[in-house]
Amino acid sequence: MKILAISGSARRNSTNTTMLRVVSTMAPEAVSISVFDQIGGLPVFSPDLEAGELPPPVRDLMDQVAASDGLIISSPEYVRSIPGGLKNAIDWLVSSHLLAEKPMVLMHASYRGEEMLEALRTVLHTVSSRFSDDLFLRFSLMPLTPDQISEELSTSENCHRIKLFLESFAHLCRTG
Ligand SMILES: Cc1cc2nc3c(=O)[nH]c(=O)nc-3n(C[C@H](O)[C@H](O)[C@H](O)COP(=O)(O)O)c2cc1C
Repeated sequence: MKILAISGSARRNSTNTTMLRVVSTMAPEAVSISVFDQIGGLPVFSPDLEAGELPPPVRDLMDQVAASDGLIISSPEYVRSIPGGLKNAIDWLVSSHLLAEKPMVLMHASYRGEEMLEALRTVLHTVSSRFSDDLFLRFSLMPLTPDQISEELSTSENCHRIKLFLESFAHLCRTG
């Protein structure tokens, strides 16, 4: 089973991207997790751009989403909402219909950002019949460096939380 973990942050030392990278190393048996951290490379969505050959960064994202059995999305909050880059990626994917039946869950690397989470939940409920609100994992990693995040997520308690979350999501992807 393949899971794609999409980071909504284009920042080099993003806490969300780092968290997803660490989580990807804890995948249960028979599950592989790859991280999409190229949200900043997508052109701004326009239906006009769908007419010809898709821009290569868009094609790449679509191929990765198509090849996955489920998506984990983790994003910062910008100005009390979804960062433009992530919303732009979702607009491209909606148009391709790839999300309609894709199992999806959220992670979050901060204890702030409620308005972004609420807005993102509304969007994901709109685009997929298989977005699951019940399964959600968050950590408070905002001031930490990538090394500190790796250390924080490797405590036995946090490893346990991550493994339970991933096993539950893999089950959800399998069973529908
Ligand atoms: C332009 C900008 C706007 C932001 N707006 C908010 C906001 O409205 N609410 C909030 O809680 N944090 C806000 N933040 C803080 C980020 O959400 C926070 O630092 C986040 O954890 C960064 O995620 P990252 O490390 O994955 O990039 C903002 C940060 C930036 C750069």
